[in-house]
Amino acid sequence: VSQIEPGSKLLIITEKRKRYLVTAEPAKRFHCSEGFVEMDQLLGKEYGCVARSNTGSLWTVHRPSLADILMHFPRLTQIVYPKDLGQILVHSGLGPGGRVLEAGTGSAVLTCFLAHFVRPSGKVYSYDIRSDYIENADKRLIDLGLREYVELKLGDVTQNIDETMLDAVILDLPEPWRAVANAWQALLPSGRFLSLSPTVEQVVETVEALSNGFSDIGCVELLQRNIRARRGMTRPEFIMRGHTAYLVTARKSEKS
Ligand SMILES: C[S@@+](CC[C@H](N)C(=O)[O-])C[C@H]1O[C@@H](n2cnc3c(N)ncnc32)[C@H](O)[C@@H]1O
Repeated sequence: VSQIEPGSKLLIITEKRKRYLVTAEPAKRFHCSEGFVEMDQLLGKEYGCVARSNTGSLWTVHRPSLADILMHFPRLTQIVYPKDLGQILVHSGLGPGGRVLEAGTGSAVLTCFLAHFVRPSGKVYSYDIRSDYIENADKRLIDLGLREYVELKLGDVTQNIDETMLDAVILDLPEPWRAVANAWQALLPSGRFLSLSPTVEQVVETVEALSNGFSDIGCVELLQRNIRARRGMTRPEFIMRGHTAYLVTARKSEKS
């Protein structure tokens, strides 16, 4: 559907480039610090249309991408950002039909992202030690129509992983090295191991734990520098996100 209807999710980008995720509702107004637009003005129009606010400024109305929706999830924990999500997908080798364990569920950003890519025949097994995060993930997944591709599990992956023959294990937790032995058991031969950590100390612990039973071990940090592109004034933006996480990658191999 390319037309905006009642209930459509919209990404509104204002003249000052602020981004809002809203749901189209008849007879309602969308308000922000730059003014408001009448939702009735948008219904029946095509995505990509331009709306005039009450102050006369022009806002564009887009169909939100999965990444737009994930970036508007409630932040119950640190989350994984789009620049890292893309790299995780490439290194995991996952696609439709993939079976992947992910821990911890946290705010469910990575959970929903992975579910989108392994569907329709794959599965995400997502573990967290906190039941409130599992409950939140349940809601987020239902909302996105992704619930059937995910098994949410209350559990500690350093203690136990139920699954076997997995294509990938992806960890985003404080002590990933303590789950390396269980990850090895859970993976298919040559299965992919990935771990996100904010500090170098965590990376070193993880890489050492991977030294028996994993090969092709690598670590990458992605820095994204946004460029303000305008003729005669094109230059990097002054402000950038300096750090998110290091990504450790490895493949399961024979133990020595
Ligand atoms: C940084 S958050 C994960 C964020 C998540 N990747 C996202 O994109 O929203 C880390 C999560 O790991 C969970 N956790 C910590 N230790 C764990 C363990 N041993 N097993 C399972 N989950 C764990 C925490 O409760 C927390 O929710």
